[in-house]
Amino acid sequence: MSTSVHPAPAVEETQEELEAIALFVPYNDSHALNHATQLRAQGFSADSVHKILTQAKNRTKALEKFGQQAHQMLLTEAGYEQSTRQAVAMVHAQRFAQAQIDSVADLGCGIGADSLSFAQAGLAVTAVEIDQRTASYAQYNLMDFPSAQVFCADIEQLDLAAIHQTFGRQIDGLWLDPARRTVQHGKTQSRTFDAEDFSPPLSFIRKLAQTGIAMGVKMGPAIPHDQIPEECEAQWISHQGSVVEVVLWFNALARPHVKRSALVLDSAPFEPSVITEVSSPYHESHSQQQASEPLYEVKEYIYEPDGALIRAHLLGEIIRTTDAELIDEHIAYLTSSSPLQVLGLKGYRVEQVLPINDKHLKRWVRKNNITTLTIKKRGVDISPEQLRIKLLGHHKNTKKSVTGRSGTLILTRIGEGKTSRRLALAVSPL
Ligand SMILES: C[S@@+](CC[C@H](N)C(=O)[O-])C[C@H]1O[C@@H](n2cnc3c(N)ncnc32)[C@H](O)[C@@H]1O
Repeated sequence: MSTSVHPAPAVEETQEELEAIALFVPYNDSHALNHATQLRAQGFSADSVHKILTQAKNRTKALEKFGQQAHQMLLTEAGYEQSTRQAVAMVHAQRFAQAQIDSVADLGCGIGADSLSFAQAGLAVTAVEIDQRTASYAQYNLMDFPSAQVFCADIEQLDLAAIHQTFGRQIDGLWLDPARRTVQHGKTQSRTFDAEDFSPPLSFIRKLAQTGIAMGVKMGPAIPHDQIPEECEAQWISHQGSVVEVVLWFNALARPHVKRSALVLDSAPFEPSVITEVSSPYHESHSQQQASEPLYEVKEYIYEPDGALIRAHLLGEIIRTTDAELIDEHIAYLTSSSPLQVLGLKGYRVEQVLPINDKHLKRWVRKNNITTLTIKKRGVDISPEQLRIKLLGHHKNTKKSVTGRSGTLILTRIGEGKTSRRLALAVSPL
């Protein structure tokens, strides 16, 4: 083994410190002084107190991404921020397992969230991390899995042959989640958006892919489409309504007839339960050509596509394969005259089309006895909060507000310039 590669060091936290962390989860910042006094009285040094309370704070945050598993984890702040949510990591791990990949190298493993899911799915994991403390935490987080080993190394100094040789283990697939930020003392300093500035950069990743090894690479969901290599499948993923990442799948992990896909995980935080996927065998230019012209009208139904479909530029694919049409080429709402059951599209029946005008909208609110109002918008510069207060203000503290109905308005615009119309659609969710 080369001198620049070595097993992850043991964590610096002592057994007493590790045991004390659990006492302060969930962590409450307003009690920090009391906690510190209590720990000092028990004989912990100021440095220990800092370590214990920092971990308690990070673990408390991590409960959101990792559920109960977070109680057994050690995290740096930046390591946690960059880590993959458990529900999403589990889906990636399933993809490796389904492709009959038994062992994976997680190159740039951070605190090991992806590695944990790979190990839980039964894969042997070789995790590699450049930062010593982060690597020690990854090793700690993976301690229940004897087939997972963490090493400290700079992966950019290794090509695939060296990776096989250096770690002395069988490796069938690679996972990379390049750092998109600079980190100092475990905290984020700055972010970068050009894939060549990521660590490792996209050119390094493409060289690895050219060896033919099965590989998944996590990127930020806003990556420009022209930076995505032709030879991979790009899969945008949303979880609980937020687009969280795009994964570039290469070689055996890319599906033969899929170039772009959108995976909508509409699930409980820690388990991928409902999974929806829309995919296209084409690059964007092709499916855009296939999509019809926008309608510049709203029909009986309107649909709000999931962000993953929008980021993946898959609306053209939906338009091609259903009777949905875009209301406007610049606005990501679709419309149809019969209800559509396309997963990833949130549908509404259009009850009334109103102009965006306070007088008309107030009249609609009064007439329908609306006391709870959801306002959605695309393409118009209006604050839903302020409009809600304006429209419901006169209902406050009246008996009606207890017995009233709930309503939904979609504010949008059709057309541009002089022909532009601003519409408020009174809708009911399908
Ligand atoms: C986005 S994080 C990984 C997060 C991880 N997938 C998870 O879910 O916990 C990227 C990690 O790659 C590490 N890294 C960046 N460049 C590296 C290099 N050249 N060699 C090894 N690790 C590197 C960073 O220190 C950082 O911890």
